[in-house]
Amino acid sequence: MRHLLSAADLSLDEAVRILDTAGQMAQTQSREIKKLPTLRGRTVVNLFFEDSTRTRISFETAAKRLSADVINFSAKGSSVSKGESLKDTALTLQAMGADAVVIRHQASGAPHRLATSGWTDGAVVNAGDGTHQHPTQALLDAFTLRRHLVGEGADAPGRALEGLRVAIVGDVLHSRVARSNVQLLHTLGAQVTLVAPPTLVPVGVEAWPARVSYHLDEAIADDKPDAVMMLRVQRERMSSGGGGFFPSPLEYSRAYGLDARRLAALPEHAIVLHPGPMNRGLEITADAADSPRAVIVEQVANGVAVRMAVLYLLLAGGSAAGAPAGARTETKVDQ
Ligand code: NCD
Repeated sequence: MRHLLSAADLSLDEAVRILDTAGQMAQTQSREIKKLPTLRGRTVVNLFFEDSTRTRISFETAAKRLSADVINFSAKGSSVSKGESLKDTALTLQAMGADAVVIRHQASGAPHRLATSGWTDGAVVNAGDGTHQHPTQALLDAFTLRRHLVGEGADAPGRALEGLRVAIVGDVLHSRVARSNVQLLHTLGAQVTLVAPPTLVPVGVEAWPARVSYHLDEAIADDKPDAVMMLRVQRERMSSGGGGFFPSPLEYSRAYGLDARRLAALPEHAIVLHPGPMNRGLEITADAADSPRAVIVEQVANGVAVRMAVLYLLLAGGSAAGAPAGARTETKVDQ
C-alpha cells in the first residue's frame, strides 16, 4: 500500500490487516504512556482545504502518538486564500520534506491528483474529498462494528464482517462516508441497505453493492439491521439548485430520523453509528444520540487507532512479524 485514496482500493486482506493493526494500536492507547517511537523523524502534513474538527484532530493525534513531526495546514489563513493552487501548495510541502500528506479537499479527486502528479514523494491519505471518498472513516466504522458485533466482546483479529446487516440512512447523495462504507462493508462481507428519500439517492446507485429502501420503518422491520449508520444532512452541499431535497426539516426527521421509537424497534444487540458532526433533532434525536446503544463517541476514539494503523502501514511498511514495532518496544518498556 503506497497511498490510501479510496476504500475501493483495499482488498479483503489489506482491510483486515489495517483493522488488526488498529486493534494493536488501540491496546497501546489504554496505557499510561500512549506514545510510540515508530515514526520518529518522519513528517506528516495535514492539508485541510475544507472544515473539519474530528478528522483533523484525529490524524494529528495519531501522527503524534507515533512520534512523527506534524505540520497542520488549513486553507483558511494560508496562501490558498490568496489564490495559490494545489500544485504550488504541494510543491512547498515537498520542499519541506513531507513523508505523508493527509489531504481533505472540497473537490472530488484532489487526493488522487496529488498522488499521481509527482508534486510530492510522500504517501497520500485521503481524509475526505468532495462527495467522493473518506476511506479512514469507513475503516474506523468497520473497526467499531467488528469490536461490537463480531467475536466475543473484544477486538476480533483476522475476522471480517461476514453476514452483518448494516443500514446506512439519510443524505446518501452528498455523503463520501456512505460511498466509502458501501465499498468497504461489501469487501468485508457485510450486507448494506441504503435508506433515503428518492431525492437523496445518487444516480447510478443500482451499480453499488447495496440494496436501496425509501422507508426507514420498513427497512428496520424487514432487515433487522445489526447496526444503523446515520448520515448528516449536508446542508452546505445543498445550496446549488436552491435546495428542495425534502419538504421541511420536520418531515425529514419524521420519515428518516432516528428517534426513541425506532431505536426500540431495532434488534436488542443493534448499535447506532454517526460519523459526526450531528444535526441533533434532524437526522437523530438527542435521546437516540445519547443512548447506550450509540457508539458515536467510541467511533472518535477508534478513529485515532485506525489512523495510527494507516500511517504506520504506509510509512513504516509493516514489520514481517505483523506487530507494530513501536508497540513491541512499548511492551518491553512496560515489562
Ligand atoms: C464526515 C465528513 O466530513 O465527510 N465527517 C467526518 O469526517 N467525521 C461526515 C459529515 O461531514 O457529515
